[in-house]
Amino acid sequence: MTNESGKYVVRTFGCQMNEHDSERIAGLLETDGLERAENESDADVVVLNTCCIRENADNKLYGTLGHLKTWKDAKDGRRIVVAGCLSQKDRGGVRDRAPWVDVVMGTHNVHRATELLAQARSNGPVTEILDEAVIDDHALFPSALPVRRETSWNAWVTIQIGCDNTCAYCIVPAVRGKEVSRPTADIVAEVGSLAANGVTEVTLLGQNVNSYGRDLAVAERRETGEGSVAPRFAELLRAVGSVPGIRRVRYTSPHPKDMRTDVLAAMAETEVVCEHLHYPLQSGSDRVLALMHRGYTAERYLERLAEARRLMPDLAVTTDIIVGFPGETDDDFVRTLEVAAEADFDSTYTFIFSPREGTEAATMVDRFVDPAVVADRFERLRTVVERSALLRHQARVGRIEEIVVEGVSKRDPGVTTGRTRQNKLVHFRTDRVLRPGTYATAEITRGAPHYLEGRLVEVIADATHKVRIPVASIG
Ligand code: 5AD
Ligand code: SF4
Repeated sequence: MTNESGKYVVRTFGCQMNEHDSERIAGLLETDGLERAENESDADVVVLNTCCIRENADNKLYGTLGHLKTWKDAKDGRRIVVAGCLSQKDRGGVRDRAPWVDVVMGTHNVHRATELLAQARSNGPVTEILDEAVIDDHALFPSALPVRRETSWNAWVTIQIGCDNTCAYCIVPAVRGKEVSRPTADIVAEVGSLAANGVTEVTLLGQNVNSYGRDLAVAERRETGEGSVAPRFAELLRAVGSVPGIRRVRYTSPHPKDMRTDVLAAMAETEVVCEHLHYPLQSGSDRVLALMHRGYTAERYLERLAEARRLMPDLAVTTDIIVGFPGETDDDFVRTLEVAAEADFDSTYTFIFSPREGTEAATMVDRFVDPAVVADRFERLRTVVERSALLRHQARVGRIEEIVVEGVSKRDPGVTTGRTRQNKLVHFRTDRVLRPGTYATAEITRGAPHYLEGRLVEVIADATHKVRIPVASIG
């Protein structure tokens, strides 16, 4: 089916789940006859795949839509699509603020991108936001749709959509719906076909991967009257880890309240699962954690972390922390500093609390923290986490590490960049042209807070992926 002609660009805001949805949207548009454009000036269709997790995402979107009005007016037939979490949240609001948008679609109808675009071309602007995922293989998991993957030695694979938690600050459950797991056999089959195309690294994506499979187990038990209803993420890691050709498995994100020993053991025992755990702390204060409904205390978080490090002594640990949650006192914040120091993170994503309409925390207006106080806390936290990151990186100097080449630096063409199993960037100088996806070893020569420097030792495996993974057929 090729109904369209011309070129498209997709611009993505937000997380990996969104990046992956964008690959699906691009895959569908290409199946429909559109070609990828380098930038907007030679595109006929611009898709903005939006995020709403923090406030500045909204501002960025509406700013971009302002520029796109001029772009659209400059040439007949140009169309604008707004997809993703922000349109799911704002619904009709997107069109109220930017009536020149042609298609507004949500997170549950990625599979409808081309139909909606065609509809807009013949009948004018269209808005379609579904309240929940359509229970249908193609619609449910973006991975079951055609794909136009961005890098081709590594691939994202959706294992679960939605989230059943109720973190007080988080808009995700409202825009991504309830948790639904994808059947293990489908995931393993997709990883198998990726590997057959030369993909060597996969990242399993879900909002709360530790509960992966619980819904499947409950449904099976309902049908057969037997079996355990425990989550199945540990089994999934082992299954994906045994697919021939896969050399690295990563995943994101786990929830500390649900982290179980069986998952840590599966990580430790499955050789290809990388020594990296993204383990979102959010706050070090038990009082704030309770207000957030996180379901764990700092002590329990640290105990689990210690267990993970016992099982995987060379584990890199990264985290997310929110500064300035409503009601956070200086004492609460000092606990966050203490717990962060004790956890000895490799890197931290620090976010300033941003009230999201519709979440519980957004109603706690009388306890919002003064922005100047928040800015000061943000800096204090940065000092603590950069110190531990730097020390951890310096401790790696002299080690020989496996890296996957990602490409040549844009700023300095003499520098090539690779990524270690711990998910750290290593910059090194070489005259050799190494194709992205090549496995090599590097000796670490210097540690900085956000990256490592190294020296190329040897190439251990050439990249084997095809230049582009062909667009898969639906069905
Ligand atoms: N304000 C600030 N940060 C937030 N995050 C999620 N919601 C908010 C919010 N309302 C952060 C959390 C989460 C990460 C993806 O984004 O730390 O782990
Ligand atoms: Fe991703 Fe969450 Fe942003 Fe949606 S709101 S794009 S799920 S980070």
